Amino acid sequence: MFDTLVVNANLATMRPGGAAYGAVRDGAIGIKAGRIEWLGPRADLSGAPEGLATEVLDAERAWVTPGLVDCHTHLVYGGNRANEFEMRLNGASYEEIAQAGGGIVSTVRATRDASENELVATASARLGSLLAEGVTTVEIKSGYGLDLATEMRMLRIARLLGDTAPVTVKTTFLGAHAVPVEYKGRADAYIDFVANEVLPDAVRAGLADAVDCFCENIGFTPEQTMRVFDSAKRLGVPVKLHADQRTDFGGAALAAKYGALSADHIEYSSEAGIAAMAAAGTVGVLLPGAYYFLREAHMPDIGAMRQHGMDMALATDSNPGSSPLVSILLALNLACTIFRLTPEEALAGVTRNGAKALGMGATHGTIEAGKAADLVFWRIGAPVELAYAMGANPCMKVLKSGV
Ligand code: NIG
Ligand code: FE
Repeated sequence: MFDTLVVNANLATMRPGGAAYGAVRDGAIGIKAGRIEWLGPRADLSGAPEGLATEVLDAERAWVTPGLVDCHTHLVYGGNRANEFEMRLNGASYEEIAQAGGGIVSTVRATRDASENELVATASARLGSLLAEGVTTVEIKSGYGLDLATEMRMLRIARLLGDTAPVTVKTTFLGAHAVPVEYKGRADAYIDFVANEVLPDAVRAGLADAVDCFCENIGFTPEQTMRVFDSAKRLGVPVKLHADQRTDFGGAALAAKYGALSADHIEYSSEAGIAAMAAAGTVGVLLPGAYYFLREAHMPDIGAMRQHGMDMALATDSNPGSSPLVSILLALNLACTIFRLTPEEALAGVTRNGAKALGMGATHGTIEAGKAADLVFWRIGAPVELAYAMGANPCMKVLKSGV
């Protein structure tokens, strides 16, 4: 007996190999104790649906996908940077704004000054937009505190969001996001503080599921990044990396060397870096929202990623500076129109490969027996419509762990 039996559905299982989108037409899904116990064509059911489950859910011929995974966000922060958007439209560059005390450090100021309630309320609103479009798993980074108290506060709020909404939250410690004003000109001392004090505290408090760094000419050097990664390794926490967003800084190869879950942005990564990632099983996370919003012009080498068999994930990078994006469906469209991903690659990027980028590939990201019953029902005629439409939201219903 299933708890719930979904019938009258077309399934985009996103299982690799086989039919496009892993599609099963006129399918059914049997759910028990929050997990998928069985799926297949309805014709393969061993009897009348009513006799097989406590509840029968008629999907009205909807398409059903795995719950969507947004594997790279900075959802918790104070204020916004609409003023910098306006400055850029009046001619200033992202680097000039950063060097003039704007950029990440201005959000650090606003985040330190914000009340707990303000941070929770604004992050919840952004999370709500993602959930309305079928997101059931989201990664949330720290990195706008850059001191012990505020980094911990951001991570605690991220955990709280996961405890109070129907979503799995994975937290990522991003203490090495920028040098805070109190360490100005002393980046190495700040890295010592992050690697030896803040990160161990966050891990001991159970607040860091992964560790990330901003490895870039306007961020931290590969050597500084390695010091944070070595600390993560000692603490037994997996790593991810903001890599090669503005220059080829060797970030992709560095991430691969540490067996990172993912390297993210990777617009400037060389073919050798991409090959190293593929060999290490490091997922490449594409962030077309940031590419679009900053009007970047150097495309990620999607051809090399395909050729080397690197898994491509896709995320919103939701943040106030480079990607104020709260729509995972728009990220699908941007990835297809700008990066020329196929709609199937894009959907795999926010399901199977997004889950893998969070170390959740074994339990989430596809519709398969044994995996979590995180399912989204869409009023569409074909899966491509999820990437095709802009500003539409055909999400009808979401099941998180079967309910
Ligand atoms: O992913 N590149 C570093 N971090 C963010 C931008 C953060 C900001 O500008 O506030 C990103 O693009
Ligand atoms: Fe980011």
